[in-house]
Amino acid sequence: MSDAPRPAVITPLAARLGTLAQDRTLVVAHRGASDQYPENTVPAFAAAIAAGAELVEFDVQVTRDGMLVCLHDETLDRTTDARSALGGRDLRVADLDWAAVRHLDAGAWKGPARRGARVPSLREGLAAIVAGAVPMLERKGGSAEAVVSLLRDAGLVDRVLVQSFDWEWLRAVRRLEPALTLGALGEDPLDAATHAAIDALGVAFVHWDWRTVRSEDVASLHARGYLTCVYTVDPDLALLGAMAAGVRMVTTNHAARLVELRRQHCGSRPTRG
Ligand code: G3P
Ligand code: CA
Repeated sequence: MSDAPRPAVITPLAARLGTLAQDRTLVVAHRGASDQYPENTVPAFAAAIAAGAELVEFDVQVTRDGMLVCLHDETLDRTTDARSALGGRDLRVADLDWAAVRHLDAGAWKGPARRGARVPSLREGLAAIVAGAVPMLERKGGSAEAVVSLLRDAGLVDRVLVQSFDWEWLRAVRRLEPALTLGALGEDPLDAATHAAIDALGVAFVHWDWRTVRSEDVASLHARGYLTCVYTVDPDLALLGAMAAGVRMVTTNHAARLVELRRQHCGSRPTRG
């Protein structure tokens, strides 16, 4: 056995996922089952779980009055009826109170059959996911204190993955709550300096843009103890490639498709790195 240092900070939840991933690539539903359902809504989360995703990824923003909500964009225009319901354009969630945001329709943009879906509060989103899958929270807005406090209050510190592109924010979370399972998000090629910066962060998983990850990055991250994850992988051949490369978790808009490809191909997957 190697005595090399393993800088990954592996929590019991990360260890459990690592064990699960020995048998199969874990499916992360990106914003829920977002190919069929409106992203970041309860119906999308429920459909992802029904499809067999082990994890459900979602984004967090914050309203003017401090409510943490499941939403990707800073503005509400793309995924809600805010323009017609409230008037104006480029309506920022940070400029509106929860009382206004909660009544918006967040489903109709995806087709008439999806009308009626709402922007969930973070609490509502977590409740919809946690009984059937592991929530993978991506912070877009909201302070470290607010997110940690909500997770503590909900009793979910040991059941949720928390990730961000903002590594300063991750460091703040780490200081507040060392028991959380943290992930570093990134997109640029993984050069030596980036690998070293990841090691200094104290995270359990590394979640990277699949287009820049080399197979030797995957091997190196595994050797250092990290769970690996790539986003956002949609074409069949890319999904198969990510599985073949031994990446532990794959984030996709097509969760049901990845579950099916995994079922078809898991017998032929090469030995993991
Ligand atoms: O969780 C990773 C992925 O979601 C990051 O990109 O823009 O879809 O939040 P984005
Ligand atoms: Ca995201």
